[in-house]
Amino acid sequence: MRTAPPVLELSIDALAAGGDGVGRGPDGRVVFVPFAAPGDRLRVRVIEERARFARGEIEAVLEPGADRVTPACAVFGRCGGCAWQHVAYAAQVDAKRAILGDALARIARLGAAPAIEFTASPTAYGYRGRARVLVSRGQVGFRQRRAHAVCAVTSCPLLLPALDRALGALAAAPPAHDGEWELAAGSDGRVRVAPLDAAARRRPAAREAGPDAIELEAAGERIRVSPGVFAQAHALLLDTLAAALLEAAGTGDTVLELHAGAGFFTLGLARRFAHVVAIESDPDAIRDLAGNVAAAGLRQVRVVEARVEAWLAGGEADRLGADVVVLDPPRGGIGALAAAALARSPARRLAYLSCDPATWARDLAVLLSHDWRLARVHGFDLFPQTPHVEALAVLERTVST
Ligand SMILES: C[S@@+](CC[C@H](N)C(=O)[O-])C[C@H]1O[C@@H](n2cnc3c(N)ncnc32)[C@H](O)[C@@H]1O
Repeated sequence: MRTAPPVLELSIDALAAGGDGVGRGPDGRVVFVPFAAPGDRLRVRVIEERARFARGEIEAVLEPGADRVTPACAVFGRCGGCAWQHVAYAAQVDAKRAILGDALARIARLGAAPAIEFTASPTAYGYRGRARVLVSRGQVGFRQRRAHAVCAVTSCPLLLPALDRALGALAAAPPAHDGEWELAAGSDGRVRVAPLDAAARRRPAAREAGPDAIELEAAGERIRVSPGVFAQAHALLLDTLAAALLEAAGTGDTVLELHAGAGFFTLGLARRFAHVVAIESDPDAIRDLAGNVAAAGLRQVRVVEARVEAWLAGGEADRLGADVVVLDPPRGGIGALAAAALARSPARRLAYLSCDPATWARDLAVLLSHDWRLARVHGFDLFPQTPHVEALAVLERTVST
C-alpha cells in the first residue's frame, strides 16, 4: 500500500534561480515550491524528498504574501513560458538581483562582489519582440509546462501588441504543416511570421539576409536578422542593452567579439575600435553579420565562422592580442577550457554578457582565479514574468601584461 505524501505548512522566504518559491520544512530542509510567492503561508504536499531538499506542490494558499498578484494570462501554470505571473513585478526584480548576487557568492565564490546595478523592464508585459510558437494539428501555442504537448493560445500578454495580433491571426488560420514558427517584430514595427523547420528554411545560398529579415535598431546602428538567427527578445531594452555593452567594452585598438550573432553589438564596436574580430558559428548568422557589416561600410571588421571553443583552443586569442574581449554565449556558457584560454590572453578588459547566471558565474570563477578582478556587474530584466535574467560582468586585469 502506498503511503500518502507528507503535507507541510510553510512560509516562502524567497524565489530560487529556477523560479520556485523556497521555504524551510520543520526539519530545516529547504523545500522548493512552484508558483509560490515570497511571504506566502502555504499548505504544501511533498512530492519528492532528497537528503538536502524536498519539492512540493501547493495544496492551499493559507495566507498570500504581500507580493502575490493575479496572473494576467488564462493559461498561466499550464503554459511553459512563464513562471512568475503570480509575483508582483517589483518583487521579481528584487529576486533577480538576489539571484545574481547568490550566483556570484556561491558559484563564482566571490567574497566581496561589486554592488549590482540593475535595469528593470519599463513594462512588466507587452515587451517581447520575438517568440517561437509550435504549430501542431491545427493548434498554435507554446510548449506546456514540463511536457512536449502544445498549450494552445490565441494571445500572449508578454508579446508586443503587434506581435500578439500576429499570433492571434496565426491561431485563427493555422498553417497546414506542423513545426516551429518564429514571430518577430522589427524596430520599424513590421512583423514577420516565418516557419523555422529545415525544409521550410532551405533556400539558395545567399550572401545577405533575404526579404524576410527584420530590421533592428539599437544605439544608432541598424542590422537585418533572418528567421532562425538569434535576436535579442526584449524590444524595449535594445538601446539600453547595446549602450551598456558598448560602454563596458570602451575603446581601443582591437576588440575580440565572441558569439557575434547577426552583429547586434558588432557595428557599435567597430565605431570604437580600429579592428574588430567577430566570431560566430551559425552559418545563417554569419551571412547576416557579413551583410550588416558590409551595409554599414565597416572595413575594420573581420568576420570568422568558427566555434568559439575550438578557435580559442587553437591559441588564436593569444596570436590576435586583442586589448578587449566581449562575449555573449548561449545558455551553456563557454566552459572551463575556453575561459582559461581567455584568462591567459593578453586582453586588459573583458565584458561577459549572459542569459544564464549559473554558467556565467561558473565561467567567471575560472577567469577570476587568474589575474582578473570583477570591476562591475549589471543585471537587465530582459524576461519579465520568468525567472530568467541577463547579466553583464566587466572584468579588468589586476596586473599589466
Ligand atoms: C546569445 S546569442 C548572442 C548573439 C549576439 N551577440 C546578439 O546580441 O544578437 C549567442 C550567439 O552565439 C552563437 N553561438 C552559439 N554557440 C557558439 C559557439 N560554440 N561558437 C560560436 N558561436 C556560438 C549563436 O549562434 C548565437 O548567435
